[in-house]
Order: sequence, then C-alpha cells, then structure tokens
Amino acid sequence: MTELVRFGVSIDQQLLHRFDQAIATTGYTNRSEAIRDIVRNYLVEQEWASSEGEVAGTITLLYDHHSGNLTAALNELQHQYFRQIISSIHVHLDPDNCLETVVVRGNPDELKDIAGRLISIKGVKHGRLTLSSTGKGF
Ligand code: NI
Repeated sequence: MTELVRFGVSIDQQLLHRFDQAIATTGYTNRSEAIRDIVRNYLVEQEWASSEGEVAGTITLLYDHHSGNLTAALNELQHQYFRQIISSIHVHLDPDNCLETVVVRGNPDELKDIAGRLISIKGVKHGRLTLSSTGKGF
C-alpha cells in the first residue's frame, strides 16, 4: 500500500453540506472514503475516454411506452447497432413505465454515441450508460 497523503480542499459550504447528506444516505461513514471512490471512478472514466480497445457495459433506460413512436424508435436504433448490442432485458414496471437494460460491447466512443442516441429519444425519462473494463481488453 502506498503512503496516505492529506490535502485541503476549498469548497462552498452549501455544496459540502449537500455532499455530506448524499454520502450519508449511501452508507459512507466519512468524506475521505467517499472522495477516494469518486476519484477512482473518475480515473476509470478517463481510461474509457482514452481507450481505443473494447469495453462492455449497460445502457439503462426508463420510459413511458405510450410516448409517441418511442418503442418503434428504440427498436429501430437497437437493430441498427446489432453488432454492439449483445442483449436486452425489458421489465414492465407498471401500466405505463418500462425499464430496459441494454447490454453493449465495443469501442467506448461508439458505445457513448449509441447511449446518447437511445437516451435522447423523446419520452425516455431517465437513461444512463455504465461502462466496465478490465483495462486489458477481454
Ligand atoms: Ni414494458
């Protein structure tokens, strides 16, 4: 284990208060542990951004299936990217809302582009791309 280093951070009081409240709800007992995890996540994200290799991930979508031609648009896009989309899981949350998890694999930039296209379809209420990598390809 490398040596621990302490450093000071200037931060707006209100922002720090919100941060403390947020980390308390996720179970962190101190700021240091939360900040370490955030730094690690940031570094992993930077690795994706610079990666030219292959990564895997999921795109989570929450939408109202009654919204316009949303389901047709989602279907069309997923067929367009059949090489990168390995699988998907669809759950009917209630009479209106659907949760879909799309499993993807490929170049990080390409996957970000696909996620952006899916998430920006009108009627998608929430969407998020999560990428994962061993850092050594697969
Ligand atoms: Ni559904």
